[in-house]
Amino acid sequence: MIFLNFKAYREGFGKRALELAKIAENVSERSGTYIAVAVNFLDLPIVAKEVKIDVFAQHIDAVDFGAFTGAVNAEMIKEYGAKGSLINHSEKRMKLADIDFCVSKLRELKMISIVCTNNVSTTKAVSALRPSFVAVEPPELIGSGIAVSKAEPEVVERAVKVAKEVCEEVRVLCGAGITTHEDYVRALELGAEGVLLASGVVKAKDQKKALEELVGLC
Ligand code: G3P
Repeated sequence: MIFLNFKAYREGFGKRALELAKIAENVSERSGTYIAVAVNFLDLPIVAKEVKIDVFAQHIDAVDFGAFTGAVNAEMIKEYGAKGSLINHSEKRMKLADIDFCVSKLRELKMISIVCTNNVSTTKAVSALRPSFVAVEPPELIGSGIAVSKAEPEVVERAVKVAKEVCEEVRVLCGAGITTHEDYVRALELGAEGVLLASGVVKAKDQKKALEELVGLC
């Protein structure tokens, strides 16, 4: 499984978000690999309408409808075709109570929650909230091109172990620095069910080639 986070990169926004989402759809179809995209709120309705692969939000606010200026909640992203959302990404950290609110709300709406964590302890803690996925991403490796599956394999292995001990159904992803097919395969060998990545593909000179290489198509 590959979850491609477009973040707020220019190369993954507006027209280019749709182009990259279509590349992800094409590579997913040709390789048989599950690939999903996490796009900017402003691109979500358009991208979700135009591609068959799953489209996620990168964040949601821990609120229902009401007097919450500027907020975007789970019901809103569902309305526009999102499959679910990243929660507590290292670049959008949340309080534990808000993570719990969002995970419960997404579960209630039959949507997918992907809670991002920074180490083994926080992975253990948030697994108790029963998210669909937990994605362990050591912040110091994010954007580094140094893959967590190579630089800190023990973090991935232990995160999988503790998550499953707390909540057997939770599925574990890992991310940070994942760029090559070898990084991806290594993550799976360590027990992760997939990877969460951004710059290795979104910032690549040739995004299609980078994604094809990641899944092992070339
Ligand atoms: O959401 C995934 C992201 O934080 C990892 O970033 O650029 O190291 O793939 P990157």
